[in-house]
Amino acid sequence: MSVTVVPGDMEQVVSDAPAVEGALRTVDVTVPATSANLGPGFDTLGLALSIYDSVTVSAFDDGRLDIAVAGSGAAQIPTTADNLVVRSIAHVYADVGRPMPGLHLRAVNGVPHGRGLGSSGAAVSAGILIAKGLLAGDVELDDHSLLRLATELEGHPDNVAPALFGGLTIAWTGESGPQHKKLLVHRGVAPLVFVPGFTMSTSLARSLQPPQVSREDAVFNVSRSALLVAALTQSPELLLDATADRLHQDYRGAAMPETLRLVQALRAEGFAAVVSGAGPSVLVLADGPGARRRAVDIADAVTDTPWDAHMLAVDVRGGTVEQRAEGST
Ligand code: HSE
Repeated sequence: MSVTVVPGDMEQVVSDAPAVEGALRTVDVTVPATSANLGPGFDTLGLALSIYDSVTVSAFDDGRLDIAVAGSGAAQIPTTADNLVVRSIAHVYADVGRPMPGLHLRAVNGVPHGRGLGSSGAAVSAGILIAKGLLAGDVELDDHSLLRLATELEGHPDNVAPALFGGLTIAWTGESGPQHKKLLVHRGVAPLVFVPGFTMSTSLARSLQPPQVSREDAVFNVSRSALLVAALTQSPELLLDATADRLHQDYRGAAMPETLRLVQALRAEGFAAVVSGAGPSVLVLADGPGARRRAVDIADAVTDTPWDAHMLAVDVRGGTVEQRAEGST
């Protein structure tokens, strides 16, 4: 067996860290995994998925920085001021002109690290939401500010928009900065993600794309992206055509041949399979639980690479932030 189905209850890791004595304030934040691009919608479309990072942070009026991380990628994640969640909190405090507080931070990461499921976007979004929770009552951050701050750190808005707001998001950058439109996905769409044991660097993946594309390829992706919005919200039967891409997947395939092979094998069997984000995971937008099971069987038959298969739901809520009541643990 090269494919292992991950039980759904493994996705729901929760930080239950107690509040720390003497804290000014404690907040609990959860942020979903995200799959960007969805085939043709390069740097534009994103989908929130039901795997979560969970972070509890207490703020102090001293300079402490006490960080512990458990779960996916924990061994590689810095527990210093370089930590991406902490850098994101600091970015917000600098933006609003408030001094950075001391922090006690406990994270439990469910989002697979470096696999094209938005782990960096989740860390950035978690930091932005933590800052929102810690600053509430002094500074109020609206959705537009949250997306702007997150995009400044992430570089492109297609992961952070669904991480913050949930559902299917169309993200673009206009004159007033990054914007998003959230849509609800047709309930017949059943996401399935194949996650390999190896990682892929987003900057390497981006460097493999040519600076220019032909008008024919541009038109190809414009038509498929427009169709994909209709397929995901109204007409799932169009998903196979709607997920075709000519802007990034084939160019990046040389750096992740097993990923491209699995995408092609599943598409040849009629499944809407795409590279998730910059890879190396594969996202399948199936049309129900039975179809997901068949996709797992096909993957198992065509690949020797070990893959974890996650049968997921679309997360409709996006990132959450809750302030602990004073005196609670
Ligand atoms: N749109 C981005 C890319 C998502 O494919 O490079 C990964 O961060």
